Amino acid sequence: MGAAYDAFEPFPGATITSDDSTPSMRRMTNEWSKPVTVEEMYGDWDWEAAVAAVDRSLDPRPSSSIIDMFGALGPGPGDVVLDIGGRDAANGLEIAKRYGCRVISVDPAEANIADGQVAIAEHEFGELVEAVHGFIEEIPAADGAFDFVFSRDMFAHVADAERALGECARVLAPSGLMLFHQVFATDRLEPIEAAEVIGHTAAVPERFSVEGFESAAVAAGFSIENVDVVGSEWYEASQEAGTASNYLLQVSRLRRNKAALIDEIGEVAYRVVYGNALWTINQILGKLESRVYTLRRN
Ligand SMILES: C[S@@+](CC[C@H](N)C(=O)[O-])C[C@H]1O[C@@H](n2cnc3c(N)ncnc32)[C@H](O)[C@@H]1O
Repeated sequence: MGAAYDAFEPFPGATITSDDSTPSMRRMTNEWSKPVTVEEMYGDWDWEAAVAAVDRSLDPRPSSSIIDMFGALGPGPGDVVLDIGGRDAANGLEIAKRYGCRVISVDPAEANIADGQVAIAEHEFGELVEAVHGFIEEIPAADGAFDFVFSRDMFAHVADAERALGECARVLAPSGLMLFHQVFATDRLEPIEAAEVIGHTAAVPERFSVEGFESAAVAAGFSIENVDVVGSEWYEASQEAGTASNYLLQVSRLRRNKAALIDEIGEVAYRVVYGNALWTINQILGKLESRVYTLRRN
């Protein structure tokens, strides 16, 4: 074995046996006590029955279940909600429709605000929702202006976590609740995979740390009331419903047809579509995981 093998450090806690002959075998022993043998692989078990068991649905929650999770916090008519990083106000409109509360959807991208204003004008509950230009680092609202904050899939873009969460605490009423969704890295994500997915999605590497987020939330004046590790569940639901793109097929085409695609759609579009597919695939592989936190302002 060469230098790369000699230099290889297994994950902490890995059980190394003298039979391990490659780095990948060493890693495998982190989870399984030994590799499958040829005899076991082609042995006395039923392939069809095994695949049928795996193909059974686990009745996954769809991504829209985040609106139910928000509803469980008890919003109602008379409450004012901040949807931070609300893009085109789609979540804000759904929250207004389901719970009758007012929603201010704040986003820094002018194109998102324009789309939001169109969506609001056309929506039956649009009079309850407003799309406002702004940043989480400097929320355009008075202290204690909101009863709830909703934050979905936007925090990866944020450079200063403590400042951003401090702003969320500032604009919340005392004891107000924040429902916070973000994707985090697990210890399965390799550095090269992290660099690729983060680099293509305008994300900040430090935001993928669970420990980093939890300590920033506490430092900003929140108590963590609940953590729901959604993992890849939402993607199971969209795959079963047939509503998701085939992200693996996309990656294969993006890789094989790189030059022509960049020529046709531009480098930024190429990279963001690639990053979005990797974002999803890495969640399915357990290298990234969705989490939904309930935070209470102290
Ligand atoms: C992946 S989208 C999610 C949008 C929406 N929350 C949803 O779940 O559909 C991320 C959003 O974060 C917004 N964003 C990026 N940086 C931000 C910042 N510093 N403050 C507030 N929003 C930000 C982007 O403009 C974008 O709309």
